[in-house]
Amino acid sequence: MMLSGKRILLIISGGIAAYKSLDLIRRLRERGAAVRPVMTAGAQQFVTPLAVGALAADHVFTEIFSREDEQDVGHIRLARDCDLVLVAPATADLMAKMANGLADDLASTVLLATDRPVLVAPAMNPVMWSAAATRRNVEQLKADGIRFIGPAAGEMAESGEAGVGRMAEPLDIVASVERLLDNGPKPLAGRTAIVTSGPTHEPIDPVRYIANRSSGRQGHAIAAALAALGADVTLVSGPVTIPDPAGVTTIHVERAEEMRDAVISRLPADIAVMVAAVADWRVAAASGQKIKKQPGEAPPPLMLTENPDILKTVGHHGQRPRLVVGFAAETQSVEENGRAKLTRKGADMIVANDVSPETGIMGGTRNRVKIIARDGVSDWPDMGKDEVAEKLALLIAEKLKATGGKA
Ligand code: C5P
Repeated sequence: MMLSGKRILLIISGGIAAYKSLDLIRRLRERGAAVRPVMTAGAQQFVTPLAVGALAADHVFTEIFSREDEQDVGHIRLARDCDLVLVAPATADLMAKMANGLADDLASTVLLATDRPVLVAPAMNPVMWSAAATRRNVEQLKADGIRFIGPAAGEMAESGEAGVGRMAEPLDIVASVERLLDNGPKPLAGRTAIVTSGPTHEPIDPVRYIANRSSGRQGHAIAAALAALGADVTLVSGPVTIPDPAGVTTIHVERAEEMRDAVISRLPADIAVMVAAVADWRVAAASGQKIKKQPGEAPPPLMLTENPDILKTVGHHGQRPRLVVGFAAETQSVEENGRAKLTRKGADMIVANDVSPETGIMGGTRNRVKIIARDGVSDWPDMGKDEVAEKLALLIAEKLKATGGKA
């Protein structure tokens, strides 16, 4: 797990976005991090220490002058016994204190006393975010080495006002934490990788399209995992609702032909992992105008034509990457079909999974795969898509090393 063994001191200050901190705690712990919460008095107006403590499975620290808390840990140890201090949400007020070195409660004292990296996820009304004082404080904090994630643009929970000020989504904060704490080995440093992910949308007319249920979760996770091992990654993504992974160059496309062009434009590369659920067919002659429903008339026939096979194109390309990995989403004869695909598509490895509806894999967060390589097959147990991605990235690094040299 990306954050296993990492200790995060999470400071929650008072804003409506504090409700998102509950999910943030879950997400951090899912990845193996230990989360120790500190709450300001304001934060406790929005979420209860009981909920925060239950999710964190730790004591919630709230008071600077609490004999119990001080005996237990002490604010200096609280500030130092962690790998990262995360402030989420960070109010304008807490940032102002930080920028000026004020320490009049536990949160601000810990922030002044820490020698650990500090990551701040601001959340406030857009007018407060753009206020001259906040601008000055943010500049000062950046100059002091404080890192920021967000805020994002969007509607405010309480006022419905739109603008920049929303706290970054928990998963984006987690990605940022992972990047900051990332000090693991980099076996893919100096390597380039292309990953495809998500579905493609094949237009029928300007408003209708043919699509599939791919969420992009597995492909995006693989792009992030390769980047975490030091690779220079380009992700070519079809239309998805999940955010672009951090630390990766993402190219957004809609149609299979666009996806192919984007992939080819990034060659040469050392690694290609084609995860996208590319539509096999597109509408032969998509209409430039919306097709009208005519009363009494039969529905229009849809003539389909074959899409380019991107994996096959890459697998047989003059600038073929040294390691070409494909996926095989099957509902039957998973291994057999995977093996056939290996040869036909010119891949070195096929990650095969059973996407029968009862497995819940397509669109879900877990996966159970078989790795079909030229030298044999291995069965991986059921695990999260992030974990599949990490294991696959490590396997790719191993295989590249085994084949030696640079592509
Ligand atoms: O033939 P099938 O669609 O099952 O093959 C799946 C593998 O091929 C996946 O790696 C997928 O990304 C890739 N593929 C592709 N272009 C297509 C169809 C599939 O790259 N048109």
